[in-house]
Amino acid sequence: MTDTIDNQQSAIGNRQLPLGGRRIALGVTGSIAAYKAADLCSKLRQAGAEVEVIMTSAAVRFVTPLTFQSLTGRDVIVDMFAAREAEAHIEVARRADALVIAPATADCLANLAVGQTPDMVTLTALATRAPILVAPAMDAHMWEHPATRANRETLRSRGVSFVGPNEGRLATGRMGAGRLAEPVEIVGALRAMLGRASGDLVGRVIVVSAGPTQEPIDPVRFIGNHSTGKMGFAIAEAARDRGARVVVVAGPIALETPYGVERVDVKTVAQMLAALQVATRESDALIMSAAPADFRPESPAEHKIKKADDAQGLTLALVKNPDILATLPGGGVRVGFAAETRDLAGYAKTKLAAKRLHFIVANDVTAAGSGFGTETNQVTIFHDDGQVEEFPLQSKYAVGHAILDRVAARWN
Ligand code: PMT
Repeated sequence: MTDTIDNQQSAIGNRQLPLGGRRIALGVTGSIAAYKAADLCSKLRQAGAEVEVIMTSAAVRFVTPLTFQSLTGRDVIVDMFAAREAEAHIEVARRADALVIAPATADCLANLAVGQTPDMVTLTALATRAPILVAPAMDAHMWEHPATRANRETLRSRGVSFVGPNEGRLATGRMGAGRLAEPVEIVGALRAMLGRASGDLVGRVIVVSAGPTQEPIDPVRFIGNHSTGKMGFAIAEAARDRGARVVVVAGPIALETPYGVERVDVKTVAQMLAALQVATRESDALIMSAAPADFRPESPAEHKIKKADDAQGLTLALVKNPDILATLPGGGVRVGFAAETRDLAGYAKTKLAAKRLHFIVANDVTAAGSGFGTETNQVTIFHDDGQVEEFPLQSKYAVGHAILDRVAARWN
């Protein structure tokens, strides 16, 4: 089973870096926000992409091509006639897995809408068959102008994706919609767009639970645990990158929602159960990586519990919380996690049967680099047919892909 899945993995792409093996053409047009494109370019490279930058002559008045040349190690094309390759726009367009235009000015949107090609960016956009993502940046009045509205509707109807613009303080000092989306959002939108275009999970709905729960003791205290939600969010990103519609039911955590992922915030096990009952009505898979509390205070105090001067301690009566997985009837392919500190196999196999799971992902939360709050995890998967698969220590994102491969194998 592992062999077959590893072969499928290499066909789908790089599981360590989300944009590994992808060629991205980055078009930069003449906006004050062009300086942010350098950060975007760097983030695309960090995500594993090969980036080829093309610029308009207005863009080079804001940022020099040398900046992008240094970041990518490749020539930057501004003038197609000065490029090393003949027909440079055709070659860049053909090589690209996606074209990202960031920032895109109102003028750029107008040219794209009517198919005019006064510069290398619009030439490439017309020549490519790869999906196009546009991140506009302009003054709010320009963004709201009927001409710009019409242009973006035209582009949307042709399948062009948009990210932003965001609301906030603009270069003019005015507040409004027109700020370039943050580079991290643009990378997220690109990954989501590539997933929708060619992912193997397109059309699937995957529900992931993430993070801890907080069970109130009184209005200022709670019972919780060390889960940060990183494992669940990594699974959600991997599923989004493969084209799935992803719903995350998240306990109280500090992580930003990955672009394109739907999020339902909850605090207690009762709320998590209720949210999952709704979310799993039409899901193809439920992946429970959350760490819900097994017990909660029987009667949370209405007001802050005071420390009496003569008190030596405080006894809390706890009652058992419902087991979410055992209570939920379906959800599609059912995947649980087992967070253990000893006898990993024994406890994992008991939970696999008791919670009616297709497989369970067991992690030793005391092992270095594994469990709570880490970027990596070392897991063992126990299947309902008795198969056991051990994995090396790897990024939580790579663990997410390994889980999704096994979910997809169940559908097949
Ligand atoms: O969030 P991170 O900081 O990245 O940490 C990741 C993690 C360690 C939380 C994650 O990898 C993990 O192990 N999640 C499961 C935590 C847990 O609650 O394990 P458990 O062995 O107690 O529960 C077994 C399964 O039953 C889990 O899928 C759990 O979500 C589920 N459960 C637990 C209690 C409950 N009342 N209802 C449940 O459905």
